[in-house]
Amino acid sequence: MALHKIIMVDSGGVGKSALTLCFMYDEFVEEYEPTKADTQDGEEVQIYIIDTAGQEDYTAIKDNYFHCVFSITEMESFAATVDFKEVKEDENIPFLLIGNKSDLEDKRQVSIEEGKNRNVIYVETSPKTRANVDKVFFDSMREIRVR
Ligand code: GTP
Ligand code: MG
Repeated sequence: MALHKIIMVDSGGVGKSALTLCFMYDEFVEEYEPTKADTQDGEEVQIYIIDTAGQEDYTAIKDNYFHCVFSITEMESFAATVDFKEVKEDENIPFLLIGNKSDLEDKRQVSIEEGKNRNVIYVETSPKTRANVDKVFFDSMREIRVR
């Protein structure tokens, strides 16, 4: 069985963990924070743990798919995705732009048009309402499979 990796990238706090948890466990947790911060020897350190599937055969890992996530309620997080896209554009890397927190329409700072104006596939999601959560993961899995 081929193992595909989806890598979630962003500028922080936009809902990567919430999206992942919602897809994997059908749960929306308001306060969950798997990115753990600590102060060690007077220095701020942050650890992000990438969970793997167990006795994994790394040769079976096929392609990476990048889910570049921003929050539609935070213009800064959208602006930060531009840089990432430019870096990745040359390489032929499958890439999906995700505007998360689509349930927070009244706090929207990034319009749907702005999201669509990038030359990548754009989808808006919300783990809170489950909108498009399965779609973004299953579509990506399908796309890397048929590549
Ligand atoms: P870092 O790990 O710090 O980079 O953050 P993250 O991108 O993993 O974001 P996380 O999933 O921790 O979500 C940040 C906050 O936004 C949490 O309080 C979530 O509950 C909330 N949140 C995430 N997605 C949504 C959403 O679609 N709608 C709403 N209303 N809140 C969301
Ligand atoms: Mg997180």
